[in-house]
Amino acid sequence: MSRRASPGHQIDAITDTLALPIGEVRLGDCLEVLSDFPKESIDLAFLDPPFNTGKHQSTHVASYEDTWSGIQEYLRYMRPRVEIICHTLKPTGVILLHCDWRTCHHFRLLLDAILGEANFVNHLIWSYGLGGSSPRRFARKHDDILFYAKGETYFFDPPLVPATSNRMKGQMKKATDVIEIPSINNMAAERVGYPTQKPLALLDMLVRACCPEHGIVLDAFCGSGTTLVAAAQSGRRFIGIDTHQEAVRIARTRCEKAADEINN
Ligand SMILES: C[S@@+](CC[C@H](N)C(=O)[O-])C[C@H]1O[C@@H](n2cnc3c(N)ncnc32)[C@H](O)[C@@H]1O
Repeated sequence: MSRRASPGHQIDAITDTLALPIGEVRLGDCLEVLSDFPKESIDLAFLDPPFNTGKHQSTHVASYEDTWSGIQEYLRYMRPRVEIICHTLKPTGVILLHCDWRTCHHFRLLLDAILGEANFVNHLIWSYGLGGSSPRRFARKHDDILFYAKGETYFFDPPLVPATSNRMKGQMKKATDVIEIPSINNMAAERVGYPTQKPLALLDMLVRACCPEHGIVLDAFCGSGTTLVAAAQSGRRFIGIDTHQEAVRIARTRCEKAADEINN
């Protein structure tokens, strides 16, 4: 893909509204928070919403509800939120929507309808390994990340990964649409105990690839703030939103720590 927007270093309208120079985390339903948000201000919107698992997602540190009466109710909830997130994108902005086999096909059609089929860029597979197998089917060991652009021109800096073929042994190559990064293990230092916390390595790769340096990343379902930390550490600015007080507290703590590490 050769279409590429220049990173641009102009002061964005949104910058003036940020509580912190590098970003902020807001408490609330993203539908409400984004309703008075500047349009066309975001370079990268990443979202990892509840997956419609039918479970109360809970750990010792936090919990959130992931139960709907069925797929239609779930989509009635998600549709206006995905729409408003798309409205925040700059003309050169992109969206990465993280989901799994339960809803991926619905979100693909939804994003086709909102942004246009022509603006589909990739269906990324995050292959996380770990876990058991099933006697009834191939074990489900990946999540889906749908990548759409707002328009014809957008930023993309292809990530490099170690080559695996004998011919290119020891060299790096451009990543494919299958991303192999393990999910966070129980002993990992980055684990904060938030349910469904995603690995920083995954978000680091996505943020660097899909948002220009100094650009603005929005995560409207930010949970423990993994995307925001990845943005801060890579020189991007961020806005995080979550409905849960505990998520916001954890995300703010992680972001402050990341900011301290950058400044020291
Ligand atoms: C899958 S988790 C995100 C996990 C996150 N990516 C991480 O690494 O920690 C989904 C989050 O969406 C939040 N959420 C659900 N509905 C929301 C809404 N309408 N607005 C903002 N946040 C919402 C939940 O509280 C939960 O923290």
